[in-house]
Amino acid sequence: MWLLRFIFAAVVILVVVASPFIKRDGGPRLAINVSFPDPGFVGDQSGMWYAFATNGNGKRVQVASSMDFETWDLLDIEALATLSLWETDVNHWAPDVVRRYDGKYVLYYAGEAKEMIGHHCVGAAISEGEDPKGPYNAQPNAFACNLDQGGSIDPSGFLDRDGTRYVVYKIDGNSIGNGGNCNNGIPPLKSTPIMLQEVAEDAVTPVGEPIQILDRDDSDGPLVEAPNLILWDDTYFLFYSSHCFNDVMYDVRYVTSGSITGPYTKMGQLLKTGDYGLISPGGATACICGDRMLFHANCDQGRCLYQTSIEINNGTVSIV
Ligand SMILES: *[C@@H]1O[C@H](CO)[C@@H](O)[C@H](O)[C@H]1NC(C)=O
Ligand SMILES: *[C@@H]1O[C@H](CO)[C@@H](O)[C@H](O)[C@H]1NC(C)=O
Repeated sequence: MWLLRFIFAAVVILVVVASPFIKRDGGPRLAINVSFPDPGFVGDQSGMWYAFATNGNGKRVQVASSMDFETWDLLDIEALATLSLWETDVNHWAPDVVRRYDGKYVLYYAGEAKEMIGHHCVGAAISEGEDPKGPYNAQPNAFACNLDQGGSIDPSGFLDRDGTRYVVYKIDGNSIGNGGNCNNGIPPLKSTPIMLQEVAEDAVTPVGEPIQILDRDDSDGPLVEAPNLILWDDTYFLFYSSHCFNDVMYDVRYVTSGSITGPYTKMGQLLKTGDYGLISPGGATACICGDRMLFHANCDQGRCLYQTSIEINNGTVSIV
């Protein structure tokens, strides 16, 4: 009996110690009150957080930093210092950053292709030093183009538990659609596949061919986009947005699978218009640590940055 009592007491102590002493009101919070769309983020070795966003406020790739993931400062720096020959100097979209084992950082982004203005390729840029703020220098070649299918956008890096690296991205089929909502509201609708590309340890050299892991269906409206992959408890969680970014139907959804290559099961919406007073939330990126997320939602200035805590239980994600 004493043993049972001891175990019970130990469990109670553990639960109490593990609880936060100060619990704030739940739900997302405005992180930066300026347009900072399609955020990606990375933590550095000292515990600082850095977020990156679509062009705006005079920068190709915007950067913000935070010590606690709650209070964020927009930095007056240009992350993407040098461009490659394939891209124009405008419309850099949806960046994401990963840290490599050699201490350098890799910035993935979508850049406008000179050979097909208005359409994008995914590019990669490598930090000069070991500072996530950059400066980053573009690799000479585009990482993925698929211009015959509309181009490629929304890259996001993922480091698997076994050390294998991947990049997920969207083939921008709606950019060559037949008009209407996000240019893909009029049949026949184009597909907007989400692709999974393995990369080498340098995080920029493709290994093998990309694999399609998701595509739009009628419940997604014109498109799926903004993929972001994490692994939690042996389950892969792929977050994405459906519908057009300028539509109130824009949202954050996710699918799950026990295998990185799928098949993925639809788990529904995580954030939609009306939740917590948000309008058109989307472009979400979750921490590989499984407990926090950045996304954008409409605001007076455009699409502002929001942060939230998330919780993953038994294969289901919730906002907390
Ligand atoms: C954000 O900025 C807008 C315009 O400058 C202002 O009206 C609004 O009150 C601000 N919101 C917050 C939460 O600071
Ligand atoms: C966990 O998820 C499975 C499958 O969705 C479900 O059948 C089961 O009831 C869930 N268990 C708990 C404890 O919620």
